[in-house]
Amino acid sequence: MKILVEAERIKKEFYTILEKADTPQKLENVRVLFLGRKGKITKRLRSISEYPLHERKKIGEVLNRRKEECERAIEKKKKEMEGRVVDKRKFDIFLPGEEIEFGCIHPITGVLLEIEEIFTSIGFEVAFGPEIEDEWHNFTALNIPEEHPARDMHDTFYIDSKNKILLRTHTSPVQIREMLKRKPPFAIISPGKCYRRDALDASHSPCFHQLEGLWIDENISFAHLKGILEGFCKRFFGENVIVRFRPSYFPFTEPSCELDVSCSRCSGRGCPSCGGKGYLEILGAGRVHPNVFKNVGYEEKWTGFAFGMGIERIAMLKYGINDIRIFYENHLKFLRSFR
Ligand code: DAH
Repeated sequence: MKILVEAERIKKEFYTILEKADTPQKLENVRVLFLGRKGKITKRLRSISEYPLHERKKIGEVLNRRKEECERAIEKKKKEMEGRVVDKRKFDIFLPGEEIEFGCIHPITGVLLEIEEIFTSIGFEVAFGPEIEDEWHNFTALNIPEEHPARDMHDTFYIDSKNKILLRTHTSPVQIREMLKRKPPFAIISPGKCYRRDALDASHSPCFHQLEGLWIDENISFAHLKGILEGFCKRFFGENVIVRFRPSYFPFTEPSCELDVSCSRCSGRGCPSCGGKGYLEILGAGRVHPNVFKNVGYEEKWTGFAFGMGIERIAMLKYGINDIRIFYENHLKFLRSFR
């Protein structure tokens, strides 16, 4: 077929001209000459209808293959040219460098890592537990029986209410899992996500982060708890922070307390940023309740203390943030400020 011989000739012509094109403009001219609206290949493709039906398929195939081949060759050459331009620039030491954007660690992860670093440096190990828990680990084993009012505050999402499978409301069930898994003495911290049926507002989120701590050994007293936690606060918030322990109640500790740190703006005197209180609560803690030891089958000689802190709250305190929602909204401007 004449047209196929012609296609072969056009191809040769194309490559001869392409080889000579040594600027982006000349390359564009080649493209127009062969592939443009009135280009040599386009024109031939348009004329297919002039051929007998049984030849059209074959002609179409060949011409289209040529067309694609030419497109690829032009694209390749274009890339080579661009590469050459970049190469030249690489050697121009006076041109400014290209800016590379670095990502950064999310403030919640950053605070968790910082806290982990402090506790692991004094011998605590990091342990993890499941976010999908059963009722026994989340409540019962922690001395929160079925009718206990504490369950109300910890209302959560049930994955399977018949089998009492739920999203954990705190990281405290990891205490139970680790006590069952390990032999004392041991000291662990456990960071992770927790869930509660709270509506999202400036200070609540249905998903948030906690960090749990547990130290089991013989003769652990409240003095150990105070020493470790005060030491942690000084390292995390700075030497000048004033730490205050207040009596409190948790079903899984006895005695229990809450720990407040002095407001960094007013050092405890009271100012608008701490709502005039002077102190801000950061964690709950206490000596492990004997019933908890009973539930995991530990002998009476073991003693220990536990604590649990809310990471969002600590991050908010550290960075002066007053709305918890900002952590989850992926505003680049906010996230970039932690670089
Ligand atoms: N699990 C408690 C909560 O979510 C926090 C807590 C309090 C943890 C006292 C502890 C503890 O380990 O001893 O409210």
